[in-house]
Amino acid sequence: MSSLSTTSAPKGLEGIVATTSKICYIDGDQGVLAYRGIDIHELAEHSNFEETCYLLWFGKLPTSAELAGLRARLAAARELDPAILALLRGIPSSAQPMDILRTAVSALSFYDPENKKNDHDANVNKAIRLTSQIAMIVAAYDRIRKGLPIVAPDRSLSHAANFLLLLNGKAPSPTAERALDIALILHADHELNASTFAARVTAATLSDMHSAITAAIGALKGPLHGGANEAVFRILESIDAQGSDPVAYVKDMLAQKKKIPGFGHRVYHTEDPRATHLRKMSRDLCHASGHPKWYDMSQKIEDFVKAEKKLNANVDFYSASTYHTLGIDVDLFTPIFAVSRISGWAAHVIEQLDDNRLIRPRADYQGPKYPAHYMPIAER
Ligand SMILES: CC(C)(COP(=O)(O)OP(=O)(O)OC[C@H]1O[C@@H](n2cnc3c(N)ncnc32)[C@H](O)[C@@H]1OP(=O)(O)O)[C@@H](O)C(=O)NCCC(=O)NCCS
Repeated sequence: MSSLSTTSAPKGLEGIVATTSKICYIDGDQGVLAYRGIDIHELAEHSNFEETCYLLWFGKLPTSAELAGLRARLAAARELDPAILALLRGIPSSAQPMDILRTAVSALSFYDPENKKNDHDANVNKAIRLTSQIAMIVAAYDRIRKGLPIVAPDRSLSHAANFLLLLNGKAPSPTAERALDIALILHADHELNASTFAARVTAATLSDMHSAITAAIGALKGPLHGGANEAVFRILESIDAQGSDPVAYVKDMLAQKKKIPGFGHRVYHTEDPRATHLRKMSRDLCHASGHPKWYDMSQKIEDFVKAEKKLNANVDFYSASTYHTLGIDVDLFTPIFAVSRISGWAAHVIEQLDDNRLIRPRADYQGPKYPAHYMPIAER
C-alpha cells in the first residue's frame, strides 16, 4: 500500500477533485454555474448556442467577426457522409436513439478529414464538425424511422433553428427556436459530470476526439445521468394515461424505494440554476401550447418531492415537459442533451490534451488477503 497517497475512496468519488480546469465553475451550495466565469443566467438571457460554443472552445466571448466566422464554420459542417446515412438506414428498428448516436459518432471518425490528427487545431475542427453532425444524425434518424424524407440543412439558420428544421421538416417559430437555443446553452457544459469525465479519461490516453465523444455518449445514456429526462417524461405520460394523482404516484414510487428521475444532484445542495430557467420555459411553453397539464403535473411533483424528501429538481426535470411541448419525441430527449453537451465535451478534450497526462487513479483493494495462493483445479 506504500505507493498510495490515499487509501480509501468515497463512494462514487464524491467530493474528489480530479483535475484542474478553466472551463466551468460550479458552487453547489450557492447554486452557481458559470462557463469561463460567466454566470449561466446571463448566458441564458443574452447569449446563443453558437456564442456559447465559442466561449467554451476559445476561452472568451467572440467579437462579431469571430462569431460570424464560427457560425459560418458550423453551417459549412452541416453535412453527413452518405455512408453515415446508409448506416442509419440499416439499423434495426428496435435500436434506441442513444445507442444509434453512439455508434454513428464512432463511425463518423472513418470519414473525418483529420482522423489521423490529434493536435489542438484539428480537435477544434473536429469539435465544430461533431457539433453540426450530431444534430444532423439525431434528426436524420428520427426522419428515417418515421419513413419521412431526410431534410436538407439550411445554412442560413442558427444551430437550434436548423436542428428543428431537420427534425420537423419546417422552420421553427421564433419562440421554439429561442426555447431550444436556451436549452442548448443550459446543457452545454457541467464540469466533471460522468460523461465529461469519461471523455477526458479517454482523451488522456492519447486516443482521439471521436473515441472520447463516443465514450461520453455511452456514459450520458444512463438514467442516473442524461437518461433522466426521458425517464421523467415516461412518468408524466404514465400519470396522464392512468389519470393518476401525480403526488400519489410519486409517493408510491418512494414507498417502493424508487428514485424519482429529475431530482437530486451530486453537486448542488440548492436549486440547480438550470432548473430555474427550464421551469419557466416549461410553464410558458405548456401554457402557450394549450397543454398546461404537463407543467401543472410537474409542479405538483416538484412541490411534493421538495417537501417530502428535501430534494430539488435538477436540469432534467423540467426539460422533459419543455422538449415534449416543442414536439420532440421522448426517446430523443437524451440525444438532444448530447446535441448540446458535445460543445462541453469537446472543450474538455481540447483542454485535457493541451496539458495532458494519463488519468490513471488507484483502487482501494478489498479482496482476498495477499498472498492468496493458486490452488490446482483438481484440489479445489
Ligand atoms: C443525481 C443522483 C444520481 C445523485 O446521486 P448521489 O449523489 O450518488 O446521491 P445518492 O443516490 O447517494 O442519494 C443520496 C440520498 O438521497 C436520496 N435520493 C437522491 N436522489 C433521489 C431521487 N431522485 N429520488 C429519491 N431519493 C433520492 C437517495 O435515496 C439517498 O437517500 P439515503 O441516504 O436515504 O439512501 C441522484 O440524485 C439520482 O439518482 N437522481 C435521479 C436521477 C437523475 O435525475 N439524474 C440526473 C442528474 S442531473
